[in-house]
Amino acid sequence: MRTPPRRTRAGAYALAATLLLGLAGAPGADAATDRRHRATTLDDLAQKSGRYFGSAVDNPELADTPYADLLGTEFGSTTPGNTMKWEATEPQRGVFNYAGGDEIVNYAQSKGLSVRGHTLLWHNQLPGWLTSGTWTADELRSILKNHITNVVTHYKGKVFAWDVANEIMNEDGTYRDSIFYKTLGPGYVADALRWARAADPKVKLYLNDYNVEATGAKSDAYYTLIKRLKADGVPIDGFGMQAHLALQYGFPNQMQQNIQRFADLGLDVALTELDIRMILPTDPAKLAQQADMYGRVTDACLAVRRCVGITVWGYSDRHSWIPPVFPGEGAALPWDENLQHKPAYDTIAASLAAAARKKKG
Ligand code: XIL
Repeated sequence: MRTPPRRTRAGAYALAATLLLGLAGAPGADAATDRRHRATTLDDLAQKSGRYFGSAVDNPELADTPYADLLGTEFGSTTPGNTMKWEATEPQRGVFNYAGGDEIVNYAQSKGLSVRGHTLLWHNQLPGWLTSGTWTADELRSILKNHITNVVTHYKGKVFAWDVANEIMNEDGTYRDSIFYKTLGPGYVADALRWARAADPKVKLYLNDYNVEATGAKSDAYYTLIKRLKADGVPIDGFGMQAHLALQYGFPNQMQQNIQRFADLGLDVALTELDIRMILPTDPAKLAQQADMYGRVTDACLAVRRCVGITVWGYSDRHSWIPPVFPGEGAALPWDENLQHKPAYDTIAASLAAAARKKKG
């Protein structure tokens, strides 16, 4: 499925209810009934104001059945955490492997979730053949075009958005000195967007980065770049704010205004990798502060009409990229390691519910 919000589950539930009438007393009927009456999900609430609520997932997590089941019921969208990245999709030059990405797409389709594609071009998780090679500009341009064309074509109609370029700016608003920038200069970003558009005319094309939730040099650089791309007729549909936040750094300055200014360029904005880490151990005060921040981040998105959805980077502390990457930090997600709601779940739900009421009223 292409565009969130995904199809409503109401139809599926009506069918399930009909089947249940015939199945009363059959094994599994109670579980199905429970599911039919389960509490409203975050995605149900988000859909009421025309948005999606998603979670990333990495392939090994699909084998964690309770985790995968909750992913499939609670969320409207998913993003593969790793297996659409270059090292996974083109491990040898010109040899493409879509097994991991396809597994997630198939799972998502079976549960009625839409998929965000992540990511076509990034300085991390590149295959060794690419980073260890020495390339002329013409060679690298053709490698990049071939990669984007293949991957986007393969997932055409299966993902509704692509993070075409990920993390291309430094904190001070200059271009990151990646292999692409070094070899091709800044024009590679427009080229990448055009190649992606050529391969799939309908998919939403995003630039995506972290530390761009607040106003400041980095988000200013994206604002200037995107304005220029638009003026030049380069296809770009959205700006992804990863939103890897941390209690100790506080709420991003002027987040709502910052989202709004990108929306005002005629773009969709999405929070694409939301998590809010803390220095461990957790305590009730930190969890309360985290809940407050999750609620305010959700509010900031919902206050802007073109903030189209929120994706958490995994939904439970059971599977999170934070502890290995930020030693001593963690507990960044709205569900705990036992898949129980943390206080953050309630503030997110309350924020989504308030936006739904406002939309209705
Ligand atoms: C992370 C994955 O979650 C990890 O499993 C992997 O080891 C490293 O990458 N910004 C991004 C994501 O855009 O692709 C990163 O995902 C997290 C930071």
